[in-house]
Amino acid sequence: MSEELLVGIIRESSGALSDAWAARDAGAAEGVRIRYLGRKGGELNEVMRGLKDLSADEKRIVGPLANSVRVYIEASVSAIKEDDREKIIEAHRALGERLRGREGGGALSEVIGQRENEILGAGDVADASRSRLDLTIPGRAPHIGHEHPLVQTMEDLIEVLTRLGYSVAEGPEAELDYYNFEALNIPKDHPARDMQDTFYLTGDALLRTHTSPVQIRVMESQAPPVKVIAPGKVFRCDADVTHSPMFHQIEGLYVDEGVTFADLKGTLEAFVREIFGPEYRVRLRPSFFPFTEPSVEVDIASDYVAGGEWMEVLGAGMVDPAVFEAVGYDPERWTGFAWGLGVERITMLRYGISDIRLFFENDLRMLRQF
Ligand code: DAH
Repeated sequence: MSEELLVGIIRESSGALSDAWAARDAGAAEGVRIRYLGRKGGELNEVMRGLKDLSADEKRIVGPLANSVRVYIEASVSAIKEDDREKIIEAHRALGERLRGREGGGALSEVIGQRENEILGAGDVADASRSRLDLTIPGRAPHIGHEHPLVQTMEDLIEVLTRLGYSVAEGPEAELDYYNFEALNIPKDHPARDMQDTFYLTGDALLRTHTSPVQIRVMESQAPPVKVIAPGKVFRCDADVTHSPMFHQIEGLYVDEGVTFADLKGTLEAFVREIFGPEYRVRLRPSFFPFTEPSVEVDIASDYVAGGEWMEVLGAGMVDPAVFEAVGYDPERWTGFAWGLGVERITMLRYGISDIRLFFENDLRMLRQF
């Protein structure tokens, strides 16, 4: 008799408890507690009170089970009040275990197992609705960035030049006056220093104004032949639509026996057509740099761009013998050419950008176009 009552209590209380969990209804959970465990007329209490009238054998079976059901109801009710998912699942598992080990308890333990699954499922829905999480909304695509247009141009240039046989060298951004100027045939107080407005750090140290000092560092550290490019940041005290106090250059240096001006011209033409396109013409215009003799400025033009107008892209020349002497190369034996280009300038020409400051403002409307 009391065993039948107990089976009914297990079925009904577990149903009411999983409903209360699904609705996260603490009031309903308290209702379950009062109905079964209430001081007055609690149904499980009635069963427990009836235990004393049972035979010793029945007591041994029904007693512990009734106690397990009481523990189960108490734990579930407090789990619902505390909104503790682990705890309510644990309560169901524990009761399921007790029932499974018991004669004729298989069907009941299945009921409890089902309730446990209901709780696992219902929890998700309740969690979702409470946090107003709409599981049907499509996910957000992860935001994938890309390289800055300057980096893209820099890497394209390096790629073309390494294919022409150059290897990459680096030097410090904070440089000594000696490497930035003196070894490049620009003595102290020489008017050529005015070509580049310099940020001095101390009397002797400065932020390099060009990548040319890397030429000196490379030649100091190795014997010819030399074939290197030096990409990097450079600094000049200058700022307007076409000048930025920090910008990027790539330096090129090729030294060997018998290197001629024709080699320089051929290299520049190959390189310009790779970067800008095969329709571009190249023009060398006489110029002056203290570290090259003769020196040229390199202009390019295309019938399809800017009405075929010539545009200056870089400076170049044959390495001045004074520079070879500074690094201990024999100028009678070795000849070479060098060039230096501005990465910002090349990028502006390539994409028709008119203001250099756009590169450094990090405006996504600008950057996303590349
Ligand atoms: N260093 C020069 C500048 O910043 C560019 C340059 C011109 C580099 C001629 C060279 C060169 O190596 O040969 O304006």
